[in-house]
Amino acid sequence: MAALKLCILTSEMMPFAKTGGLADVTGALAPELGRLGHDVRAFMPLYRNLRAGPWDLEDVPTASQVAFSVGGIRYEFSLKAALLPGARHQVYFIDCPPMFDRRSYYTEDADEYRRFLIFTRAVIESCQRLAFAPDVFHCNDWHTALLPLLLQTVYSWDRLFAASRTVLTIHNIGYQGFMPAGALADLALGPAGEGLLDGADLAAGIINALKTGIKLADVVTTVSPTYAREICAGALGMGMQDTLRARLDSVIGILNGVDYSEWDPRHDKYLEAHFSADDLDGKAVNKRGLIASAGLDIDPAVPVIGMVGRLTEQKGIDLLVGTLPRFLEKRQCAFAILGAGDLRYVEFFEGLSRRFPGRVSFHAGYDEARAHLIEAGSDAFLMPSRYEPCGLNQMYSLRYGTVPIVRNTGGLADSVVHFDPATGLGTGCVFNDYDSFAVEWALGTTLDWFTDRVSWRRLMRNAMAQDFSWTRQIGQYDRLFQRVAAGSSSA
Ligand code: ADP
Ligand code: GLC
Repeated sequence: MAALKLCILTSEMMPFAKTGGLADVTGALAPELGRLGHDVRAFMPLYRNLRAGPWDLEDVPTASQVAFSVGGIRYEFSLKAALLPGARHQVYFIDCPPMFDRRSYYTEDADEYRRFLIFTRAVIESCQRLAFAPDVFHCNDWHTALLPLLLQTVYSWDRLFAASRTVLTIHNIGYQGFMPAGALADLALGPAGEGLLDGADLAAGIINALKTGIKLADVVTTVSPTYAREICAGALGMGMQDTLRARLDSVIGILNGVDYSEWDPRHDKYLEAHFSADDLDGKAVNKRGLIASAGLDIDPAVPVIGMVGRLTEQKGIDLLVGTLPRFLEKRQCAFAILGAGDLRYVEFFEGLSRRFPGRVSFHAGYDEARAHLIEAGSDAFLMPSRYEPCGLNQMYSLRYGTVPIVRNTGGLADSVVHFDPATGLGTGCVFNDYDSFAVEWALGTTLDWFTDRVSWRRLMRNAMAQDFSWTRQIGQYDRLFQRVAAGSSSA
């Protein structure tokens, strides 16, 4: 197989900036593709907090103080680079303080779309300065979904990109990047270019960045096979289903992998005790550590159910509002919850922890170390998602012997198999319906399994034996990029 030149564009990437799974995935994809021998250059914005990180940022002199104009305003950026120890891929940062020196990575500022339009243009401008002609540009989510449009319009004159092809990966179709039609002035596409945009959207006064990418990328991927089917089929497409169906041959779902160098209880750097399927003593130590640090007041024999995640509608917390108080009244168990997001969910969990002190612990905020401890110290892990493109925590949970309780959707459906105590087969608890009875059934069933130590041990072992490593998954991206680079648009 040929070594390819690959350009990955992402709004977040481990270890530099993370709000969710996108960072884990791009942070693993880049080195994995580099290890296969490809020339990988990953680009992300230089956010405020990255200047002071524990990495050396070097100026890239060929792309210093590069200026271009957007909507009649002149923007200037400089390219910075960080080479991670031992890495075989290059990470570049777009340093443009007026755009990225803000309070948070994502904002609700009126120019949010322009920030990522400028990022995307700056990546193309950087490739020009570096004389880097990618075989494939790999765009991720709405933030960089305008790249195919820009290559076909603003940069169509540049022969450097004559053979470049584009892949757009949808990590979450719930975020589409809506721009006012006034953004046409920012895009400066010219009349022919404007014809590439969705006419009905334009007539309605909007431009949809993700939809534009879905229409114009050579291939569209998403992060699990089930989610690929779901977004093409109906409501979970969130308005994109027709656009996706029009390109069915070019849409594919590839399940994300797990970076086991970060997420494995045998060597997790955040844990005070390590463990494996053959030696579970360390899990009990972590459970005691979790109980203490979460301020739970329970006997260590009581089952602890963990939750970590962004507190948004996607994650199915609405199902818990009626269910958890009832469940906690009935069953002996405790919850350790960590999350940041919508105020109404923060208030719900705060209220729950006040009502059930010592049995419900809630930490509002983002805390990497605590996320690892919850995975390691809990007995089960709850993900009742309304939709879940892939989901990583259920795969982390499997590796930590923490039984995942998940809804049968997206990547959750592709990674967890419902346990059957009669046969001893299965890796977690899977429920179908998006309603509170179903989630209550799943919680109850899991606790029933927990009381039978032999079958619980079996379930834990099954879970821990699963392999969702990138080493297994990367081949699918490799083969896809090879096909796309060779000119195929079929996924
Ligand atoms: P999503 O990308 O939709 O947020 P994923 O399951 O793919 O969902 O990935 C979420 C990632 O972000 C996981 O690595 C999880 O541990 C992490 N994470 C989410 N919320 C928090 C938080 N509040 N503190 C620490 N890590 C978090
Ligand atoms: C998104 C999805 C999540 C997925 C992650 C990485 O944020 O919500 O399900 O695992 O991206 O692809």
